[in-house]
Amino acid sequence: MLKLSKLAMAVALTVAGSAALAGEVEVLHYWTSGGEAKSVAELKKIMQAKGHVWKDFAVAGGGGDNAATVLKSRVVSGNPPAAAQIKGPAIQEWAAEGVLANLDAVAKAEQWDSLLPKVVADVMKSKGNYVAAPVNVHRVNWMWANAAVLKKAGVTGAPKSWDEFFAAAEKVKKAGLIPVAHGGQNWQDFTTFESVVLGVGGAKFYQDAMVKLDQKALTSATMAKSLETFRKIKSFTDPAAPGRDWNLATAMVIQEKAAFQFMGDWAKGEFSAAGKVPGKDYICAAAPGTANAYTFNVDSFAMFKLKDATAQKAQGDLAAAIMGPEFQEVFNLNKGSIPVRLNMKMDKFDDCAKLSSKDFVETAKGGGLVPSIAHGMAVSPAAEGAIKDAVSQFWNDDKISVADGVKNIAKAAATK
Ligand code: BGC
Repeated sequence: MLKLSKLAMAVALTVAGSAALAGEVEVLHYWTSGGEAKSVAELKKIMQAKGHVWKDFAVAGGGGDNAATVLKSRVVSGNPPAAAQIKGPAIQEWAAEGVLANLDAVAKAEQWDSLLPKVVADVMKSKGNYVAAPVNVHRVNWMWANAAVLKKAGVTGAPKSWDEFFAAAEKVKKAGLIPVAHGGQNWQDFTTFESVVLGVGGAKFYQDAMVKLDQKALTSATMAKSLETFRKIKSFTDPAAPGRDWNLATAMVIQEKAAFQFMGDWAKGEFSAAGKVPGKDYICAAAPGTANAYTFNVDSFAMFKLKDATAQKAQGDLAAAIMGPEFQEVFNLNKGSIPVRLNMKMDKFDDCAKLSSKDFVETAKGGGLVPSIAHGMAVSPAAEGAIKDAVSQFWNDDKISVADGVKNIAKAAATK
């Protein structure tokens, strides 16, 4: 008895000893839908295989606004997580606070400079030093469609222009189904809006209005046309949309209740998790009028300064794992996005991912590659938030005229 308990104690001590050597990584993210959770589980697996302890810090809320609020309070109280899902210009803002860790040693050892498109590497750096590790490239200007619903409604193929789209939506309505699955949260309204601006005005106009926030473009007739089109889309959504999560809207398309959804390709993660096959069960097509353009949204993890040496080691391993080929493949197969690491083999990816990959390269050459404003890639978080609110107010209140909608958005865009 005594002998046994001594043995048990020895075992317990050894386990405790090795746990102390393993570093803990606390990772703040907002990947909580079916497809998203499957994707992040792959990162956890890789870190655990390296002997580290994964501390999951998931904050539900699509688009990440809730996660951003929680992150602020943790950093302000001097207790940041090891890594947090932060992207675009917000990375620079956090870096300017002096709270991000320098990842140059890992980036140099793993040759990130030669493995990343320059436009992406630049976003991951502050003052020339890497402070974040990129995960993927999501395309935002997609339109998802249920093939069986289109067939039932007599719609042949995905509409390519907004006129074709509205004709198709009418047919779906007549067939007694919901033309557009929409979720009622401001970032979802904004996601649809940016695709409309891109489709109505083209990539150059999108750059001027949504990236440079040029007042002339923002107050132009093209912007008015975009708002008219945007409002018309709303008339094809169902009355239960307000408050609905994006993945529940995707589920309506998956379950043949609705025909279309405008959403980035994280929606594909939901189709994949439900066992659906593109080209057969569902169609992925560029939003009307946007086939030659690509709104990119790069997910990334910024790393925070930590004191504990084993935690720092685990953090470095996390950064290396994120850019490693194993993770880049398995994560993106589940997430609906494409690898951000260059020269990855695409043979395991489906046709939507292959199209995304091809269009990413082609639009980069042709000038159609633009950052997503709705997903934190184009402007400061303050301007983004203000424009998002103005767009959402317009969407939710049919009494706001198009002229006032234009004015409100232009005014919001002047927010510093
Ligand atoms: C993120 C995606 C995420 C989506 C829904 C986007 O802003 O980039 O990774 O799946 O929001 O939460």
